Amino acid sequence: MKVQFTETVLRDANQSLIATRLPFDKYAPILETMDKAGFYSVECWGGATFDSCLRFLDEDPWERLRKIKEKLPNTKLQMLLRGQNLLGYKHYPDDVVRKFIQHSVSNGIDIIRIFDALNDLRNIRVAVEETNKCGALASGAISYTTSPVHTLENYAKLAKEMEEMGVGSICVKDMAGVMSPQEAYDLVKAIKSAVKVPVVVHTHCTTGLAFMTYMKAIEAGADVVDTAISCFSGGTSQPATETLVYAMRQAGYEVDVNDKCLKEINDFFKPIRNEYLESGLLEPTVLATDTNALNYQIPGGMLSNLISQLKAQNALDRLDEVLIETPKVRKDLGYPPLVTPMSQMVGVQAATNVLIGERYKNISKEVKAYLRGEYGQAPGEVDKELIKKALGDEAPVTCRFADTLEDAFEKTKAELGDKAKCDEDVLSYIAFPQVYEKFNEKRQAKLENRAKYTIEEM
Ligand code: CO
Repeated sequence: MKVQFTETVLRDANQSLIATRLPFDKYAPILETMDKAGFYSVECWGGATFDSCLRFLDEDPWERLRKIKEKLPNTKLQMLLRGQNLLGYKHYPDDVVRKFIQHSVSNGIDIIRIFDALNDLRNIRVAVEETNKCGALASGAISYTTSPVHTLENYAKLAKEMEEMGVGSICVKDMAGVMSPQEAYDLVKAIKSAVKVPVVVHTHCTTGLAFMTYMKAIEAGADVVDTAISCFSGGTSQPATETLVYAMRQAGYEVDVNDKCLKEINDFFKPIRNEYLESGLLEPTVLATDTNALNYQIPGGMLSNLISQLKAQNALDRLDEVLIETPKVRKDLGYPPLVTPMSQMVGVQAATNVLIGERYKNISKEVKAYLRGEYGQAPGEVDKELIKKALGDEAPVTCRFADTLEDAFEKTKAELGDKAKCDEDVLSYIAFPQVYEKFNEKRQAKLENRAKYTIEEM
């Protein structure tokens, strides 16, 4: 049996530990070694990297991708995409989704991991279709959660439907690190018996379960696991690559990863990690184990949001009540997986219900949009009374929400004029309008400055 590894240091580990602040120049010197390490893929783009490049690092994310590709010609580059939401939380029209994927692939992406926060397959279909059309591999990711409607049968059915849709692999995506070893074993077994494509497992060390979870997932037949080079592993990041490689080899699995390269990669990133520890960007607490998510059955990030929200309102003493209300709100909403933006929506609504002292007296704009069907279909049944209370006589959207949106790419391109030099710029603008505008102004100023100096020097 063979096990393969997706290295996450450039994306998820970077995002989970240091808020995606790793600039390209900092890791450029190690990319050639990473190319020789024998990874199944290197996750390096998408997720928050795109926004962070534009917003904080003054980097053009597309240029970053091309530069990575140049140094990693032999390794599959992977990105994370929220289906119809691309890199954000709102739905885009199909033409924008297709263009985004075309340019992601033409600039260097080989594998696109596509998920929807609600596991509504209508929200990943266009992205999967376009990825296949562009010749890249579409990996269908299941947002993992537990609830009475998230049964093994339903998960297996979801995986089967994704396979029929044309995905090249299925990923079980446990963004909160709450999947237990036994749950992973049972789930991977169920999915494996439903589909023929490879199964990938993604989790985080947050609650301390991850190494055991991967081990059991691999025993159940998982083909690929996501890990991070050791000095960027643990805590809210992934389990360590070297440790899993060592353990799986000892357990008799075939592992084609070059240990010498792994050591070089870790030696390279260690001083960078230490630098961020010293500057405070990397907080030691995110590297520790936090089992709260297991006690409360809600992700760690959601719990810390709730606490800071209550603190801000001087109501931290109501935390226990909010923690009792949270699963009730989630049930009313049809058991959405507690991932962004649903985790915030559920948390804020639960806190509002408790603090006001009457359930759903105030319903947030986001929850209303959710009830209107703007995020997609809820996994379970939504409370009918609640829908009535929130929407009155207005009928919820039952079609795919993106079907209500008009094409936007060409129109936006025309509006932007010379503010966008290429289609990639147009897509950056569509994804993050204000952030792109600021980035573009700075980029222009830099270019003009450079031109000025060149003329003076001549
Ligand atoms: Co993750």
